[in-house]
Amino acid sequence: MTILTLDGFKGPKYKALANRIEQAVQNGELRPGDRLPTHRQLAEDLGITVGTVTRAYAEAERRRLVEARVGSGTFIRGNRLPSHMFQVSDSTVDNGIDLGFSVALELDQAEQLKHSLAKLQDSSILPHLLRYQSEFGLSHHREAGQQWLEKTGLGRFEQDDLFVTLGGQHGFFVALLALLQPGDGLACEGLTYPGLVGAATQQNLRLMPLQFDREGMLPEALETQCLRSPPRALYLMTRMHNPTGGAMSAERIDQLAFLCRQYRIMVVEDDVQGCLGDVENPSFSLRHPDITVTIASLSKALCGGLHVGFLRAPEPWVAAVGAAFRATCWMAIPLTTEIACQWLDNGYADRLMATQRAELAWRQNAVSERLSAIGLEHSFGGFNIWINLPPPWRAVNLVQHAEQHNIRIKPAEVFAAGQYAAPQAVRLCIGGRVQRETLMSAVATLTQLLSGSDYTREYCTDI
Ligand SMILES: Cc1ncc(COP(=O)(O)O)c(C=O)c1O
Repeated sequence: MTILTLDGFKGPKYKALANRIEQAVQNGELRPGDRLPTHRQLAEDLGITVGTVTRAYAEAERRRLVEARVGSGTFIRGNRLPSHMFQVSDSTVDNGIDLGFSVALELDQAEQLKHSLAKLQDSSILPHLLRYQSEFGLSHHREAGQQWLEKTGLGRFEQDDLFVTLGGQHGFFVALLALLQPGDGLACEGLTYPGLVGAATQQNLRLMPLQFDREGMLPEALETQCLRSPPRALYLMTRMHNPTGGAMSAERIDQLAFLCRQYRIMVVEDDVQGCLGDVENPSFSLRHPDITVTIASLSKALCGGLHVGFLRAPEPWVAAVGAAFRATCWMAIPLTTEIACQWLDNGYADRLMATQRAELAWRQNAVSERLSAIGLEHSFGGFNIWINLPPPWRAVNLVQHAEQHNIRIKPAEVFAAGQYAAPQAVRLCIGGRVQRETLMSAVATLTQLLSGSDYTREYCTDI
């Protein structure tokens, strides 16, 4: 028996069937990877023609609900992004002017690494760095994590509730594994961090992209979702939304938390970028620690290559997080964690953060001035500058145009969760290895493109 019926659906049969597929995807009856009945089988079951089923499946494919695989059938699509859109390439290969990823500024980290490695040579910690450790990490690493969370404004937590992770992505992957089961709903802002979409897809979670504004997820959108089908968890970047740079007010946090308590929803707060914003900004972790799993990382504050992060869970969830942790990688890498903790300890991290903040402020101002000069609506936070494109520009076309000039940026589509309609906007990042002069000349190229008429001639005349 198929769950695909036409009962209660009006209009042309093929549309009614496509609507039913959409409904079944939205409410979780059909999940990514599920195979739909063959055209013939479904036609027989529903008493309609094979042609109608073919048309319905084509319509569902057009809506990006299903994908037809030659020789194997029609399947419900995952939330997978085209992989080339969000894949980091080999850093030893020249990738042009890469403004596509939000990464720490390359300053004197390599020099500092030299000192740290030299210092390690005579350290009594060396044998321990070569041994297996518990999933929580070595105690002095956890202590450094505890101090980091406190210093960056997330709160003071028990060390027993804290894990050292392999960066932020690993942190929230493990949190989701611990909190949710396959098929559970995970609500997020309609535009979100693409790594979240990847993690949700791998774990067969039902992403529920919700409307948001400069202060993040709208409480009314969450409430409407809860009345239909409450999510099991929320994923939020409270203090620095990637890609738009927004931050939540205390009032917004409390409104969302109220609903979370009412519907028993846990929060996964991703503060990977938040540490570079204002540490006085309110957070879920500080205001509602009992319903929040905190994800922090040193990737943006120090560098991506050490890939060290911290996860803090409310006590009742610690055992489940520990089990999920052991099932993924057993433990974070003691050697890289030792180096990162040395930097937290010896003051280098503070200096690096201060230098980054100053440089980012300069870059944000300089880029913002150029964008404002041609009237471009934009917002920013940390490494990210989000630009709304004036008509008739489409984001993918600007990305293509920029590529012809050897400049890499990301279209809004990359950040769209599930079927959330991406606006015509792009994100460009001002961190990484790109020097001021190169950045500003890339921005000049982009603003020239956006204020020129080439686009209209090239793209709008052959429609
Ligand atoms: C919001 C957000 N979360 C998580 C990550 C991944 O963190 P990490 O690089 O520490 O794994 C990133 C990286 O850009 C991010 O922007």
